[in-house]
Amino acid sequence: MSDPDVPEVPEVPDAPEVAEPDAAARRRHAELSEKLGEANYRYHVLDAPTISDAEYDAGMRELRELEDRYPGLRTPDSPTQHVGAVISTLFTPVEHLERLLSLDNVFSLDELTAWADRAARLGGTGPYLCELKIDGLAVDLVYTRGVLSRAATRGDGRTGEDVTPNIKTIASIPTRLAGTGVPEILEVRGEVFLPVEVFERVNESLLDAGKPVFANPRNAAAGTLRQKDPRVTASRPLDAIIHGIGRVEGSAAAHGGIHPPIPPGEGIAGAAAGPGEAGHLEGAPDTQSGWYELLRGWGLPVSGLQAVVPGMSGVREYIAYYDEHRHDPPYEIDGVVVKIDELTTQRAMGATSRAPRWAIAYKYPPEEVTTRLLDIQVNVGRTGRVTPFAVMEPVKVSGSTVERATLHNADEVRRKGVLIGDMVILRKAGDVIPEVLGPVAELRSGGEREFVFPGRCPSCGTPLARDEGEVDWRCPNARSCPAQLRERLFHVAGRGAFDIEVLGYEAVAALLDGGLVTDEGDLFSLTAESLATCPFFVNKAGELTVNARGLLANLAEARSRPLWRILVALSIRHVGPTAARALAEEFGSVDAIDAASVGALAAVEGVGPTIAASVRDWFSVDWHRAIVGKWRAAGVRLETPDFDASRASARVLAGVTVVITGTLPGFSREEAADAVRQAGGKVTSSVSRKTSFVVAGESAGSKYDKAAELGVPILDEAAFRVLLEQGAAAVLAEDVQAEKPSGP
Ligand code: IVH
Repeated sequence: MSDPDVPEVPEVPDAPEVAEPDAAARRRHAELSEKLGEANYRYHVLDAPTISDAEYDAGMRELRELEDRYPGLRTPDSPTQHVGAVISTLFTPVEHLERLLSLDNVFSLDELTAWADRAARLGGTGPYLCELKIDGLAVDLVYTRGVLSRAATRGDGRTGEDVTPNIKTIASIPTRLAGTGVPEILEVRGEVFLPVEVFERVNESLLDAGKPVFANPRNAAAGTLRQKDPRVTASRPLDAIIHGIGRVEGSAAAHGGIHPPIPPGEGIAGAAAGPGEAGHLEGAPDTQSGWYELLRGWGLPVSGLQAVVPGMSGVREYIAYYDEHRHDPPYEIDGVVVKIDELTTQRAMGATSRAPRWAIAYKYPPEEVTTRLLDIQVNVGRTGRVTPFAVMEPVKVSGSTVERATLHNADEVRRKGVLIGDMVILRKAGDVIPEVLGPVAELRSGGEREFVFPGRCPSCGTPLARDEGEVDWRCPNARSCPAQLRERLFHVAGRGAFDIEVLGYEAVAALLDGGLVTDEGDLFSLTAESLATCPFFVNKAGELTVNARGLLANLAEARSRPLWRILVALSIRHVGPTAARALAEEFGSVDAIDAASVGALAAVEGVGPTIAASVRDWFSVDWHRAIVGKWRAAGVRLETPDFDASRASARVLAGVTVVITGTLPGFSREEAADAVRQAGGKVTSSVSRKTSFVVAGESAGSKYDKAAELGVPILDEAAFRVLLEQGAAAVLAEDVQAEKPSGP
């Protein structure tokens, strides 16, 4: 992707040969793109990451390497081409004055040296500006004549979401700049974060309130910044550090008049280069570190922990120092950012479509600690998957205390070779998901014991089953296994589904234990009377608790959630928010999805055959349909209101049923059927009064006769092509009745 705002400097070619990707490379590329795309979504939108940062980074590298080898795979929608995902969907979108770029990463000192060599070939040498890479959220602040006029999240780098009221709760961000020489327009970028100490306090109070805690400070900061109510934001004091400048225009009135604006694309750190020639802003320095001093003077929060060093040995020292002192700063860091300090050089070096060439992020390796493996237990998930997990002596790693870690499956436990009672090595890559790497075998006492995978479901006692070729054991009792039920109900209430805030784990357990619900179908039939029969929902005075009343209010509201959320709530395998949105947009109601053929489902962009088959399977189970029935009866809206079938009806054959008979010279039978489905039509095998058209090729037989008898229009191949392109009306307008083609 080329960016008109970013001066392009030709890439230094590393690998000159350009090859065609083979099937394996294509498959791997597609796999990784999907996985990383989904991970991005979960990370940025749901705040519920499913893969670790280390896994994400490794995937991203592999993807980038694949694309370097086969540039044809680098399509604009590849995750490598996105600077970041949209973080909040709640707030007004605003365009940044200058694009916010991302950073390229290196993971070793050798890679760092290679970057420095490349940079040197483009004219970029020391002095280097070394900074900590803060694990927070990027924000873009615009000061107009010294007053904070707008604050936005990074979004996709071009457009972010307006979070001004929330940002204004951050004490260290001035709403008005101090001092003299403030430009007419000043756009700065920085990182918003929750100091580690505040994070711990926030989690303690969440714990006290019986609410789920945040996995790490970054998540907590994201959750806090996304609050609709700035008062909630204010209750969790965020902090910020500025690390870049975007657009700078004109000097302040204090300087007696407005200077000519600096042309777009001239911002530093976050745009392509420095803030224009120093002459545009009286006395403006030509280094980024110099600008930091200027910003500090105007009252903006700039880090005191950066260093300007003359050469790469100084950079390595800085990196080594903070490797040792990683937890000294009051915020979480996941690496060091190295920038060429001189702005003229930054400008000359420019940027790729994703990241500047004059900066690089050195990522620290994941932190490792040891702790005792006290037990291995198993957990039964929403879909019946039985997952072993490690129970450990609590230990602090990468900013949070860990005492549990998934072990994925039975094979994985064997592969890691851990015994219960072992000292184990635990890693958490400055991120979310802790991982047990393996045992410290030298520390064994002989009293350790092997983990035996249970033969029966620990929740309902049903013998576990494992499909041919699958690694996972499952509890087949999907309908009434208490663990699966509990997880499903919790999922139904989750942020990605009905978003029933007060329905936490405890409330779910109380509903099930008290027999108030037998499955998720009963949820919307809860009443004040039924809740009153359950001690969990009644206070000492015998009245419904605040929570119980909240639950009823939440349920009332949740009855009219958008269709895609209902689809997510149904726990259909493979149907996450992305597929659910695509299905909802295409079909507009649960009934239409239920009625759709596998072909019609698979034809939807973003759905495909696996998801389509899974949707069909799901709807073929009686008790699944009963859930839908119960929700319908309880007043849950199962369609998109005023669905004008805009997408569906825009498809030329929506509502048209076609029978294909005989041989068409230009299409195989499958191709013809697919073409109909692609155009939104339905293909059936027998002719009835409901058939819209019969397409008759060579050797058409009884179906032709039947169509003629019933008066169903019969099309030859030419007319069929008109039908596919222009729709039914175009065909009916012409006289298209085909002659009965002769037999072989
Ligand atoms: S400079 C053009 N400096 O890391 C380069 N970024 O992974 C713009 N970050 O989007 C970024 N600490 O949100 C810069 N000292 C620092 C940083 C930093 C954290 C974030 C920033 C950026 C992301 C890239």
